[in-house]
Amino acid sequence: MGNVPKAVSGGDWAERAFEAMAPVYDDFTAHHEYDLWTADLLGILERNGLNGRRLLDVGCGTGKSFLEMLKRDWQVTACDLSPSMLEIAREKAGDEVRLAVADMRELPVFGEFDLVWALDDAVNYLLDGDELRAALGGMGANLAPDGLLLFDLNSLLAYRTFFAETEVVERNGRRLVWTGLADAGVEPGSICESRLEVQSPDGSPVPGEEPLFHRQRHFPEAEVLAAFDDAELECVEVYGLDVEGEPRQPLDESIHKKVLYLARRAGY
Ligand SMILES: C[S@@+](CC[C@H](N)C(=O)[O-])C[C@H]1O[C@@H](n2cnc3c(N)ncnc32)[C@H](O)[C@@H]1O
Repeated sequence: MGNVPKAVSGGDWAERAFEAMAPVYDDFTAHHEYDLWTADLLGILERNGLNGRRLLDVGCGTGKSFLEMLKRDWQVTACDLSPSMLEIAREKAGDEVRLAVADMRELPVFGEFDLVWALDDAVNYLLDGDELRAALGGMGANLAPDGLLLFDLNSLLAYRTFFAETEVVERNGRRLVWTGLADAGVEPGSICESRLEVQSPDGSPVPGEEPLFHRQRHFPEAEVLAAFDDAELECVEVYGLDVEGEPRQPLDESIHKKVLYLARRAGY
């Protein structure tokens, strides 16, 4: 849909979208391989001086981004804007994890963490530079002095394909239809939308299910790097994730589907 005026903030859109999506989120993302992704990410982090096992997972959703870390004996604190997503995370994690409803734009200081991460484009739900700066500042405030911050963002390629195309996932007797409303020529920095509908297996509407809308913003690399400066963070590495999810350098947003940013406190 290209550039659209900001009507309400990213958090309002995201909360609405994920409160409605929570019951089908794990079905829609069942093909995401967090075991492999977590191993890749830990490899990158270890090569960049990861030290300790305290994780703050920001925008943790239903827990997919921290469950693999629990298996590796990490001590996990996790938060999300959506209480319904967190309820599902709680069912999976039990009392082992400290979970909190929190907006990443007003992140409390939960403690000192060796690793703060926000995975699977949680940060793209922020809709302008002020929201991004506020979130990075809050994440930075939760870092141990030598802690690392890691997050991924959708690339231009993702907005020109996934957010411009239709994808259907059939699982557990439901048909989940994602209709990207962007066009294939999305410009850097655009806000893009998609519609998600829950249908019966024959494609008929499910009574009581309304379509829900995802609204995300593309953040160009230069804007993210400037936001790091404002948040007193220092960028350590930038990777593009190719269509297989493999980290590559240098970043090329025309062929990489995600961008991975690794940062730490400035001057550490
Ligand atoms: C695509 S899901 C990813 C969830 C999880 N990290 C994963 O890898 O499965 C994005 C998550 O970000 C959360 N989110 C979006 N905006 C947020 C905000 N401003 N503060 C906290 N969480 C937010 C959503 O509620 C949602 O659970």
